[in-house]
Amino acid sequence: MGLERVTVGRNAFLFLLMGLLSSGYAQKEFVALFMENFSPDSGAYLILYLTTYDKAAVVNVSVSDPHFYQTVSIERNSTIPVTLDSQYMIYRNQISSKVVKVTSDADLSVFAFNTLNYTVDAGLVLPVEDLGTEYYIFTPGPGSYNQFAVANGASTTASVNITFTGSVDFDGQSYHPGDTFSVFLQPQQAIHFQTFSELTGTKVVSSTPVAVFSGNKCHYGPTTKCDFIFEQLEPVQNWGTSFVLFPLANNSKDIIDIVAALPDTIVNVNQTEYSLQPGSHVNFFLEKSAIVTASQPVMVSYLFQDRTYPGEYDPFLVIVPPIQLSRKYYKFVTEAFYDNYITIVSKATSDTGFYLDNKPLDQYMFTTNEINGFRSWEVSLGKVDGQHEVYHRYSAFIIYVYGLEVRVSYGYSMGQETKYPDEPVGPPVLNCLPHGGEFYLPLSLVTKAKLSVSDVHLEEPTCQGTLEGNFVVINVPFNRCGSKVLNEDEKIVHVNTVYGTVPGTEVHRIEIPLRCEMATNETFGFSFLPQVTDVVSQGQYLISLKLYQSEAFTDPITTFPYEVDLHGWLYVEFEVQSDDEGFQIFVENCKASPSLENTQENYNVIQQGCPVDSTLQMYQVPSPRMQRFSLHVFKFYNFGQVYLSCNIIVCRNETTPNRCTQGCLTGRHKREVYNSKVHLGSARLSQGPVVFQSGGEPLQNSQTPHTVPSSVLVAVIAVIAMLSGMALVIQKHYYKRKGRTDLENSL
Ligand SMILES: *[C@@H]1O[C@H](CO)[C@@H](O)[C@H](O)[C@H]1NC(C)=O
Ligand SMILES: *[C@@H]1O[C@H](CO)[C@@H](O)[C@H](O)[C@H]1NC(C)=O
Ligand SMILES: *[C@@H]1O[C@H](CO)[C@@H](O)[C@H](O)[C@H]1NC(C)=O
Ligand SMILES: *[C@@H]1O[C@H](CO)[C@@H](O)[C@H](O)[C@H]1NC(C)=O
Ligand SMILES: *[C@@H]1O[C@H](CO)[C@@H](O)[C@H](O)[C@H]1NC(C)=O
Ligand SMILES: *[C@@H]1O[C@H](CO)[C@@H](O)[C@H](O)[C@H]1NC(C)=O
Ligand SMILES: *[C@@H]1O[C@H](CO)[C@@H](O)[C@H](O)[C@H]1NC(C)=O
Ligand SMILES: *[C@@H]1O[C@H](CO)[C@@H](O)[C@H](O)[C@H]1NC(C)=O
Repeated sequence: MGLERVTVGRNAFLFLLMGLLSSGYAQKEFVALFMENFSPDSGAYLILYLTTYDKAAVVNVSVSDPHFYQTVSIERNSTIPVTLDSQYMIYRNQISSKVVKVTSDADLSVFAFNTLNYTVDAGLVLPVEDLGTEYYIFTPGPGSYNQFAVANGASTTASVNITFTGSVDFDGQSYHPGDTFSVFLQPQQAIHFQTFSELTGTKVVSSTPVAVFSGNKCHYGPTTKCDFIFEQLEPVQNWGTSFVLFPLANNSKDIIDIVAALPDTIVNVNQTEYSLQPGSHVNFFLEKSAIVTASQPVMVSYLFQDRTYPGEYDPFLVIVPPIQLSRKYYKFVTEAFYDNYITIVSKATSDTGFYLDNKPLDQYMFTTNEINGFRSWEVSLGKVDGQHEVYHRYSAFIIYVYGLEVRVSYGYSMGQETKYPDEPVGPPVLNCLPHGGEFYLPLSLVTKAKLSVSDVHLEEPTCQGTLEGNFVVINVPFNRCGSKVLNEDEKIVHVNTVYGTVPGTEVHRIEIPLRCEMATNETFGFSFLPQVTDVVSQGQYLISLKLYQSEAFTDPITTFPYEVDLHGWLYVEFEVQSDDEGFQIFVENCKASPSLENTQENYNVIQQGCPVDSTLQMYQVPSPRMQRFSLHVFKFYNFGQVYLSCNIIVCRNETTPNRCTQGCLTGRHKREVYNSKVHLGSARLSQGPVVFQSGGEPLQNSQTPHTVPSSVLVAVIAVIAMLSGMALVIQKHYYKRKGRTDLENSL
């Protein structure tokens, strides 16, 4: 029997994240190489970014010859760069002892940036647990300086056999396609090959796991003359059979290459079939998107082509992670020199649920793409330095990270590593939303109870959950599925229970009471200042306020500030945005003021539900979730604008009689109702400014000296734009962000 308490919202996200970060695979040792860039004396350098997770780490970075040794202490959740100069660069068909070893006492990720002015690429360095003994080389294109290197970071000698698919000169000897080269690599030794001939399909077999890096020292693209590209290759054991490809940065001519390892591998690209033999490959231009499946594991690479429009960008190389190996949480590193992007590829149906640096994805600029139920989001991060994290609660995804600048670019991918700080399992999470709750039950709790997803349900047994990733997701409507409403001190509570029931019995192996608590009559500080945007994106509850041009209430006003003739009328509508018909709304107080800050000079329009302004007129409404009224336009002496600020009470019809049904109250009654605590809560909304036209004069000609603070106007316009101009919908912290589950798991 366990008891867990969970809070909703951002805190739940952090809680979950900490939970996931506290367990982890060993990812403490790495083998890196400084691949030959433009030329050894050109001033190129290799930056290794060392990124920690939940634990601080002491990390040693060493090269045996020329000697390099640096120990760095890194705090938890931080990134520190270690830079090696060009004497550590390996080059031209040599064996050297320049293997860069990284050892850490806690989990780490390592990102390598091989940098020289106008020619850069980056790669993710694989942990030694992901190294293997069998590789196939990919080198992009003939006619340039193709290169690869094999590094032995272990403490024993490795016997390595390399069977070439191209011609290579090494140590005065020429090797031709089909020739095998055998070599013993001592600990910390690496062998490097460089040639004009294409080496894709070259096979590397080793007696013990080695690291293999590949690319081109001086790649010739459609317009670029000489660009450095590299990537660490995945051993055959980590290859996959299903891939989803989306173009990066709107390119339409990037080259996809697919290499096979086993005989008669059938590769299917968008329904076109290719049969591949070990080391043979097929390539194509990626115009839009493509689905690649293979009968046996393949390696898929993506060569980003240079272009001149809209930016002059260089090529970079990434390995495409198979979709099966995707995860739900990544840390990655960018450099501020570039316009940085991340492309997320996932089966998630919308951007909701993704968090990038703790912010929902919709707070970033992104473009999205879709093929066969898979989606990509290319998110612009801007010119930012350092570490980032991207997360989704239950949908796994892969990422590409890349940076573009004039004549330079870098790119790497993540998702293919098998050893990595653990996937999030986290505690159960309950989100309270306007229409109901959303409960995420870790699948592991269900399988541990020897139950299946269909055995999980609410009080009403037909209300079942669905499997999404590692979670069973159960929607908890407040008006169905056995949900009840309780009145507690100062809050209204919706309750239900999740059960895991042994089929055909009354035995519950899982029983988790759920509560969504709503504070009653909360006071909101709300105004049209820039923080409005925050409220809109974080809120859990929607109350809309619309202004109309006539009492037909069919002609909403969509432009603000709204100018009305002083002799006209203002038509106002409030509505709870929910399809739950059990909600009711009541405008309790409404007052007008010449500005949001000015609290002295105000005028009551509605007080305790009673009309105070003598022109105020209420209208019949189609639903109790709505309230409409009109009033004759007025203005304050010497002020051009009027702001309306209203106190809204939302109730449930289960609690009738309640504040919403009681209507206008005075003195004694008011106290009674206050004590009965039957309303659900209230929101204060401000709409405005409403700008008055005196005799049709334009605003700037009005005689009033008051000027509207520009931030107010900008915020109003921004909000309108965000909500597609339909209406001003204001999302409130209506539920007090206090969902709670009591996890009682009894057998
Ligand atoms: C890690 O640090 C970043 C800032 O670099 C912060 O945004 C994030 O919340 C931290 N993550 C955890 C799990 O502490
Ligand atoms: C780093 O080097 C120091 C000194 O050589 C050694 O004591 C320590 O164990 C090393 N740490 C790791 C994680 O290899
Ligand atoms: C590389 O560029 C930086 C900044 O633009 C400049 O300071 C530096 O001198 C350049 N280095 C070389 C080797 O050209
Ligand atoms: C490399 O080839 C040699 C000679 O054919 C063979 O003896 C050795 O076992 C091979 N090594 C590996 C790792 O396959
Ligand atoms: C891709 O195109 C979209 C829409 O035109 C644009 O907003 C985005 O910035 C482009 N992405 C890149 C990396 O150029
Ligand atoms: C694959 O199919 C998609 C959707 O039908 C299409 O947009 C894309 O261009 C195709 N890709 C290739 C490489 O044929
Ligand atoms: C709700 O709160 C407002 C502001 O604190 C107060 O004026 C009003 O009387 C309260 N209404 C009820 C019904 O408690
Ligand atoms: C509340 O409203 C819903 C939807 O109109 C209705 O089905 C239900 O019977 C009402 N409940 C009460 C107690 O009036």
